[in-house]
Amino acid sequence: MIERSLWHPVLDALALVAAAPQPARLLGEDLVLWRDAAGAPQAWADRCPHRGTRLSLGRVIAGAGGSRLECAYHGWQFAPSGHCVSVPALPAFTPPASHSACTHDAREAHGLVWVRLAPEGMAALPAFDADADPALRKVLCGPYDVATSAPRIVENFLDLAHFGFVHEGLLGDSAHVAQADHRIDATPHGFIAGGCRAWQPQSNRLSAQGSEVSYRYELTGAYSATLTKWPQAQHGYRDVIGLFVCPLEAERSRVWFRLAVTDFDSDTEALRAFQHRIFAQDLPVLESQTPKRLPLHGEVHSAADRSSAAYRRFLRERGVSFGVC
Ligand code: FES
Ligand code: FE
Repeated sequence: MIERSLWHPVLDALALVAAAPQPARLLGEDLVLWRDAAGAPQAWADRCPHRGTRLSLGRVIAGAGGSRLECAYHGWQFAPSGHCVSVPALPAFTPPASHSACTHDAREAHGLVWVRLAPEGMAALPAFDADADPALRKVLCGPYDVATSAPRIVENFLDLAHFGFVHEGLLGDSAHVAQADHRIDATPHGFIAGGCRAWQPQSNRLSAQGSEVSYRYELTGAYSATLTKWPQAQHGYRDVIGLFVCPLEAERSRVWFRLAVTDFDSDTEALRAFQHRIFAQDLPVLESQTPKRLPLHGEVHSAADRSSAAYRRFLRERGVSFGVC
């Protein structure tokens, strides 16, 4: 399964504090996440190799040579390498290499902890270049748990034609629903849809009037995308929004939005509340769609679905199988 070789977001990085292991779910597998003494995130199968207890029931303790994850059942202690370094019932016993937890690669980026299940997978995780731009303020929104597949959520994010119906009065207006044509250009990790336009009554939290808004979408991975928008009525203003979806199960997903915005005035909760208001409008539509897995063949299309068609083509060509049918 190619999805195992990709990096996926699994947890808000701020939720991973030193002492408390956290359970997570990815591609139908249970994980335990914890932070070692060096501050590095660890992601392991949530299963003790001794008797199968969930390691997320345990605790992080200090030990010689660094921190360890201690199992809640018999107190076996595991080093960040996954190797068991202590069996309390046998103080003189040196555990062999076979006494190891199943470890995965973990990294921290874009305010999230990322995990790759396959050891020899893709080197790069989805880009979000706006993180490096000091002119933009970063705010993480979510997580949102959604009862549908990750590809349905990405496709909705790439879709302009629903604005006047689902987001009327905010991102769209029923009198301005006709779509202009736009370009699709392939990139190494997806594609860019450039030259998109929409008329929006309230493009962002600070917009005081309706405006023509230029849009650029970039598919940055199988389950991630970034949009950049420039409202004409707000000179010099730019919103960059990254969508990062964790495929918990084939038909259940966890969603974060990474905002990088020109708005340094609104308080953080107000920015989150605006994003929440928008996504709350998408949610019932997303959860109503059947089948929940994105059909790579079937369903009818119009010329206004070019980005969606390009996304489905990308998933087919890359052999993505989780969350599609
Ligand atoms: Fe984990 Fe026994 S089940 S130490
Ligand atoms: Fe929407």
